[in-house]
Amino acid sequence: MDVLPQESLETIRRAKSIIFLTGAGISNESGIPTFRGEGGLWKNFRAEDLATPGAFQKNPELVWEWYDWRRNICKNAKPNPGHLTIANWQKKSNSVSLITQNVDGLHPRAGSESIIELHGNIFRVRCTNCSAKFHLEQVGLDHPGLKFCKHCESLLRPDIVWFGEEYDQTLLTKSWELCKQSQIVFVIGTSANVSVPAQLALTAIRNGALGIEINPAETNLTTSMKHHFGGKSGEVLPKIWNEVFPNEPLD
Ligand code: OAD
Repeated sequence: MDVLPQESLETIRRAKSIIFLTGAGISNESGIPTFRGEGGLWKNFRAEDLATPGAFQKNPELVWEWYDWRRNICKNAKPNPGHLTIANWQKKSNSVSLITQNVDGLHPRAGSESIIELHGNIFRVRCTNCSAKFHLEQVGLDHPGLKFCKHCESLLRPDIVWFGEEYDQTLLTKSWELCKQSQIVFVIGTSANVSVPAQLALTAIRNGALGIEINPAETNLTTSMKHHFGGKSGEVLPKIWNEVFPNEPLD
């Protein structure tokens, strides 16, 4: 599909609540590897060794080495037109919410201000003892290797939701509420293999939202969507913007 039908364009223009739900694919054009599929991180690394509480307990040096490497990739990456289109949309209207599975910090760097980062943020750390949270750069801890708490000197860990861990309940409750009320849900660059984000998208659809998926591949959400764009989000999203707001060029 190249363009949205007139009826859907009108529904988007009138919508009082729009959700963008993003996954690793939106950052792929910025040079950040996805997790599954060709070149995906989980093809070359075992999640059990790197992204579980048990892995961190067993070998924190290895886990930190992996996150330091990934953080460096994220730091050197730049937001692409996909991130920038969403940031423009949020600036234009306060009826637009962004829920992301990404920890790479590219949405905030694109200018999105209100973001639910469901899986955490790779630039943030949390103390394994006192639970204090820090932004690595702000406390001068943006170095490779183990890092220790400024308050209690215990080991710090990435502030990321690992396999087998619970989501932040406040963020989750807010996400369910937003999805239940939404009139449009854009599902972008996610394989929908992780159940909570996939369920969030389905909740929106079951509550009447018009679903638009942007992903070069089909996913197990595709059949629930009204529209599927099989292209790259950095190309498709600006096109959709131009169709919805023909007289308003993107910043
Ligand atoms: P995946 O790696 O599972 O899926 C990425 C999706 O992006 C695939 O469906 C691709 O087809 C699609 N894709 C690739 N390039 C794209 C592009 N340019 N435009 C649009 N789509 C594109 O990533 P997620 O679904 O985000 O968890 O993975 C979910 C979670 O699994 C991640 O947040 C991560 C991982 O374990 C944590 O790190 C906690």
